[in-house]
Amino acid sequence: MRLDDLLFSQGFGTRRVCAGLIQQGLVTVEGAICDDPGADVQPEGLGYTVQGVPWLYQRLAYVMLHKPAGTECSQKPSTYPSVYTLLPAPLRQRPNKGAVNGVQAVGRLDQDTTGLLLLTDDGKFIHRMASPRHHVPKVYEVVTRHPVDAAQLGRLLEGVLLEDERVPVRAAACEQTGERALRMTLTEGKYHQVKRMVAAAGNRVEALHRSRIGVLELPPELEPGQWRWLTEAEVRALMAAPAPARAGAAG
Ligand code: URA
Repeated sequence: MRLDDLLFSQGFGTRRVCAGLIQQGLVTVEGAICDDPGADVQPEGLGYTVQGVPWLYQRLAYVMLHKPAGTECSQKPSTYPSVYTLLPAPLRQRPNKGAVNGVQAVGRLDQDTTGLLLLTDDGKFIHRMASPRHHVPKVYEVVTRHPVDAAQLGRLLEGVLLEDERVPVRAAACEQTGERALRMTLTEGKYHQVKRMVAAAGNRVEALHRSRIGVLELPPELEPGQWRWLTEAEVRALMAAPAPARAGAAG
């Protein structure tokens, strides 16, 4: 692959911009400056730098972000900054066959929800993670306004009827983790689902944090606002199978 095509594929701008970066000596390949836009490079596993920043070629991009509170998952946010502003420009500019460029959030979290958010430009992965048919479990740490009681836990596990839904929705697992704290596992992703379920069970969500998606836990060292690439093994594991339900799961 030509070096300018490689940079273009990784989101560094138009082919002309990419050629310019290379000709100005701003790109190194495997440790050495390469100023020929037409240089033939082997993309798989290629390490390179652009303006001193190291990159590894990724045919498709998969990242996790620790979403901070006060950010919106929309590309065109209405009130709060978009989560996309937390990612470097190349991740937002990666060219795609479709109309939309760059990585996309896999599902959405509310502006006040924190925690694990995945973003990718792999449409199959987005479909796999979001499809209710695949039942990928998502684990939420919930702080409630009122003390949690057994009746509320029972309702969340047996199913609550939400407005505009015809069948009750239930948590795949739910356990009390503090006087006003719950850990809830959902396998669907309905609008404001945790907040609506907790309200329907007779309590109220004060704070919400997603700690896990399938086999992937939010790493404690990833601070709010930070992102990192998923490893190949993590992508494979997420695609392969949902994590086994926690003890106490109801389905
Ligand atoms: N459920 C909610 O109510 N909000 C979120 O952000 C995620 C799940």
